[in-house]
Amino acid sequence: MTKNIAVIKGDGIGPEIVTEAMKVLDAVAKKYGHTFNYEQLLMGGASIDANGEPLTQETIDRCKASDAVLMGSIGGDTTTSPWYKLPPHLRPEAGLLGIRKALGLFANLRPCVLYPQLSGACPLKKEISDKGFDMLIMRELTGGLYFGEKKTEEVDGELVAVDTLIYSEHEIRRIAVKAFEVAMKRRKKVTSVDKANVMESSRLWRKVVEEVAKDYPEVTLEHMLVDNSAMQLVKDPAQFDVMVTENMFGDILSDEASMITGSIGMLASASMNETKFGLYEPSGGSAPDIAGQNKANPIATILSAAMMLRYSFDMQEEADAVENAVSKVLEAGIRTGDIMSEGMTCVTCSEMGDRIAALI
Ligand code: IPM
Ligand code: MG
Repeated sequence: MTKNIAVIKGDGIGPEIVTEAMKVLDAVAKKYGHTFNYEQLLMGGASIDANGEPLTQETIDRCKASDAVLMGSIGGDTTTSPWYKLPPHLRPEAGLLGIRKALGLFANLRPCVLYPQLSGACPLKKEISDKGFDMLIMRELTGGLYFGEKKTEEVDGELVAVDTLIYSEHEIRRIAVKAFEVAMKRRKKVTSVDKANVMESSRLWRKVVEEVAKDYPEVTLEHMLVDNSAMQLVKDPAQFDVMVTENMFGDILSDEASMITGSIGMLASASMNETKFGLYEPSGGSAPDIAGQNKANPIATILSAAMMLRYSFDMQEEADAVENAVSKVLEAGIRTGDIMSEGMTCVTCSEMGDRIAALI
């Protein structure tokens, strides 16, 4: 098969980690007789430097014309980078939020798996990490607190800032359907996370999720308050299969969930619309402190590329091959600095990519 992949390397460690994912994709293409054509596009800080704005119509149009988008990370150091002197709508993150919205990528899938080889890097007590866990956070990505009306204005002589958490039924329904669909292919359990004891938007969320659940009698649905969910994630992560939640709740919980896998450098993600089209990016940030040092962990990006093969290209065997190669490399004791532990071999970002590609 021939596939056209739009590539946004982005800022910070983005170029390094995406280069390794492309290396692995090239190994897949060679082994399975596919052709992957890449088109490099700018977004975030790199686009601000080149075009004066974080996201151009050109980048949106080229992404739309592609079969899938592979992305690294965007943004810089928020205290020192000149990008953060710009008004909010011209900062790097506005590019990321803009492309999610422009491409209609409302479903963000973040699988959090504790590899048995990495249980030593998990900061939880041994009796918890020994049980392992394998969950998928289904984060709503184009609505909620991120996209509701926001403003800062002067009222009675002081500044007042407002963000709005708004959801309509159709937005909740479509993400709930995605959660139940993926649960059907997993352990058939959905935990819907909300704050229905306080928030109106959460009460509507709960009502719509319950309606959707009626179409999936085989799936067990439970509701959990977001504060309790944060606690349960560190107390008993093995209880979760699919967790579906509002945009910002998902942002926060997925960082927490990534940490218990050993490192945010392990967490892949797929952002999808209602078709097979998706944007694939690691869940972690641009890590400006280690950018350009060939130290970053490329595994999250490589696993994101595997998700692209699986969800956008229907290449199950190829996706399995990438995931197995990652497991084998970990099994062999190969580690980047973030997941390093005693007795293991510490390698650079590019060596990690080489090792994984060699095992395809
Ligand atoms: C993420 C990131 C982004 C988000 C930032 C960079 C805007 O934290 O993908 O989780 O909040 O969605
Ligand atoms: Mg985040």
